[in-house]
Amino acid sequence: MSRLVLHDRNRPYTIESSSGEKFAVCACGLSKNKPLCDGSHKRTLDEVSNSMYVYDENSRVKLASDGQGKGASPISTLLADFEK
Ligand code: FES
Repeated sequence: MSRLVLHDRNRPYTIESSSGEKFAVCACGLSKNKPLCDGSHKRTLDEVSNSMYVYDENSRVKLASDGQGKGASPISTLLADFEK
Protein backbone atom coordinates (compact mmCIF):
# COMPACT_ATOMS: atom_id res chain seq x y z
CA MET A 1 0.00 0.00 0.00
CA SER A 2 1.19 3.47 -0.81
CA ARG A 3 0.01 6.78 0.50
CA LEU A 4 0.46 10.32 -0.78
CA VAL A 5 0.61 12.86 2.04
CA LEU A 6 0.81 16.56 1.28
CA HIS A 7 3.05 18.80 3.36
CA ASP A 8 3.50 22.49 2.65
CA ARG A 9 5.64 23.58 5.58
CA ASN A 10 9.42 23.66 5.15
CA ARG A 11 10.51 24.07 8.73
CA PRO A 12 9.73 22.36 12.06
CA TYR A 13 7.31 23.35 14.77
CA THR A 14 9.10 24.17 18.00
CA ILE A 15 7.40 23.05 21.19
CA GLU A 16 8.47 23.43 24.77
CA SER A 17 7.77 20.93 27.53
CA SER A 18 6.59 21.92 30.99
CA SER A 19 10.19 21.48 32.18
CA GLY A 20 11.39 23.98 29.58
CA GLU A 21 12.98 21.45 27.22
CA LYS A 22 12.51 22.47 23.58
CA PHE A 23 11.76 20.08 20.74
CA ALA A 24 11.66 20.58 16.98
CA VAL A 25 8.83 18.51 15.50
CA CYS A 26 8.98 17.62 11.82
CA ALA A 27 6.36 19.34 9.70
CA CYS A 28 7.90 18.74 6.28
CA GLY A 29 7.39 14.97 6.31
CA LEU A 30 10.97 14.08 5.37
CA SER A 31 12.57 13.40 8.76
CA LYS A 32 13.99 9.91 9.31
CA ASN A 33 13.60 10.50 13.05
CA LYS A 34 9.88 11.35 13.27
CA PRO A 35 8.29 12.94 15.08
CA LEU A 36 11.46 14.96 15.59
CA CYS A 37 13.09 17.13 12.95
CA ASP A 38 16.42 15.80 11.70
CA GLY A 39 17.20 18.70 9.35
CA SER A 40 15.89 16.97 6.23
CA HIS A 41 13.59 19.94 5.59
CA LYS A 42 16.65 21.71 4.18
CA ARG A 43 15.98 19.72 0.98
CA THR A 44 12.75 21.72 0.56
CA LEU A 45 14.11 25.23 0.98
CA ASP A 46 14.48 25.90 -2.74
CA GLU A 47 10.98 24.71 -3.66
CA VAL A 48 8.98 27.10 -5.82
CA SER A 49 5.61 28.20 -4.41
CA ASN A 50 2.47 26.77 -6.03
CA SER A 51 4.43 23.70 -7.14
CA MET A 52 4.31 20.05 -6.09
CA TYR A 53 7.31 17.79 -5.44
CA VAL A 54 7.80 14.09 -4.72
CA TYR A 55 10.78 13.02 -2.60
CA ASP A 56 12.53 9.73 -2.04
CA GLU A 57 15.72 8.93 -0.16
CA ASN A 58 18.07 10.58 -2.62
CA SER A 59 16.10 12.52 -5.17
CA ARG A 60 13.25 14.91 -5.81
CA VAL A 61 10.90 15.29 -8.75
CA LYS A 62 8.88 18.42 -9.47
CA LEU A 63 5.50 17.13 -10.62
CA ALA A 64 3.52 20.24 -11.38
CA SER A 65 2.95 23.89 -10.79
CA ASP A 66 -0.14 26.05 -11.08
CA GLY A 67 0.48 27.33 -14.55
CA GLN A 68 4.05 28.37 -13.83
CA GLY A 69 6.88 26.95 -15.84
CA LYS A 70 7.03 25.37 -19.23
CA GLY A 71 5.03 22.17 -19.64
CA ALA A 72 3.72 22.20 -16.09
CA SER A 73 0.33 20.70 -15.21
CA PRO A 74 -2.05 22.50 -12.86
CA ILE A 75 -1.99 21.02 -9.36
CA SER A 76 -5.79 20.94 -9.25
CA THR A 77 -5.81 18.63 -12.28
CA LEU A 78 -3.19 16.40 -10.74
CA LEU A 79 -5.08 16.16 -7.46
CA ALA A 80 -8.32 15.38 -9.31
CA ASP A 81 -6.55 12.46 -10.97
CA PHE A 82 -5.47 11.12 -7.56
CA GLU A 83 -9.06 11.29 -6.27
CA LYS A 84 -10.40 9.01 -9.01
S1 FES B 1 10.80 19.85 9.53
FE1 FES B 1 10.96 17.88 8.70
S2 FES B 1 13.03 17.37 8.96
FE2 FES B 1 12.87 19.33 9.77
